[in-house]
Amino acid sequence: ESVAIGIDLGGTNIKAGIVNDRGEVVYRLVLPTEAYLGGEALLQRVISIVEQLSDEARKRGWSLIGTGIGTAGQVNHAEGVVMGATANLPGWAGMKLGEQLHASTGLPVSVDNDANAMAFGEAWVGSGRNWRNFVCVTLGTGVGGCLIVDGKPYRGRSGYAGEVGHHVIVDGGEPCNCGRTGCWEQYASVTGLMRMARQVDPEAKELVSSKAVFSLAREDHKLASVLVRQYARYIAIGLANLIHIFNPEGIVVGGAITKQGNFLLDIVREELASSLLPVYRNSPETIDVVAAMLEDDGGVIGAAADIFEKMK
Ligand code: BGC
Ligand code: NA
Ligand code: ZN
Repeated sequence: ESVAIGIDLGGTNIKAGIVNDRGEVVYRLVLPTEAYLGGEALLQRVISIVEQLSDEARKRGWSLIGTGIGTAGQVNHAEGVVMGATANLPGWAGMKLGEQLHASTGLPVSVDNDANAMAFGEAWVGSGRNWRNFVCVTLGTGVGGCLIVDGKPYRGRSGYAGEVGHHVIVDGGEPCNCGRTGCWEQYASVTGLMRMARQVDPEAKELVSSKAVFSLAREDHKLASVLVRQYARYIAIGLANLIHIFNPEGIVVGGAITKQGNFLLDIVREELASSLLPVYRNSPETIDVVAAMLEDDGGVIGAAADIFEKMK
């Protein structure tokens, strides 16, 4: 059977897998990103993951047709080059990932932004499969995004479209890893949630992790509930901006935070209801906010999907 390697390179973990042409992950691998080691070390880590997965495919008699990778940062998809990256991935900007991976595998390579890859996966076999036009956001270490137009990621002139995490929601707000201030990423990412947790619980007595925050909030813990409400409010502000600009068929929310499922999304939906233009408020059925169905696999599946697409 024909398979492709898919890699999802985020700020905290590298998720990788072998994906078949039905969009199923048939073999998985997860490694820490350890971005602080620098760009060259990260490249070597990616190359060794690809080698390992190629071996696995060979052992199982699968025919490998190529490698797709989605990475945080601004990517020139046509050239396979990472053009820009924030401090989440130091030394990663300028990496000719396509060329390097092609040299080590001899097979086709596709390089895309991580959120674009996730969106493409969700469009193929996930929450977006019944939509042609939707917005995907990922709330993890950073905040990423992608606009799917007519079934495909909209890339813009240079491939940098969809950087929703760096749309400013607070003038003069929190410093961002991109060097600016007030970006949505600082309020809607897991990192942002934990910064806000330290503000309400400075000695980190209880709100020690996002998991702790949510399990306490589920038990109606006062501080945790206030924090989750505020966090949901920030998510909703950004989503309302996106909805007003794009009037999409729906919004798919992915990233680490989707583990909280409808507990968080229901609060986001409540906050969204009061943030949207009257035309949406009067007919709430006109906008769907749903969790990414493929959970941790979306980026892996979507990165591989681009290889299958190229083969058509
Ligand atoms: C980066 C994006 C990326 C997102 C999620 C942001 O900080 O600018 O390129 O998609 O994090 O990883
Ligand atoms: Na994107
Ligand atoms: Zn920013």
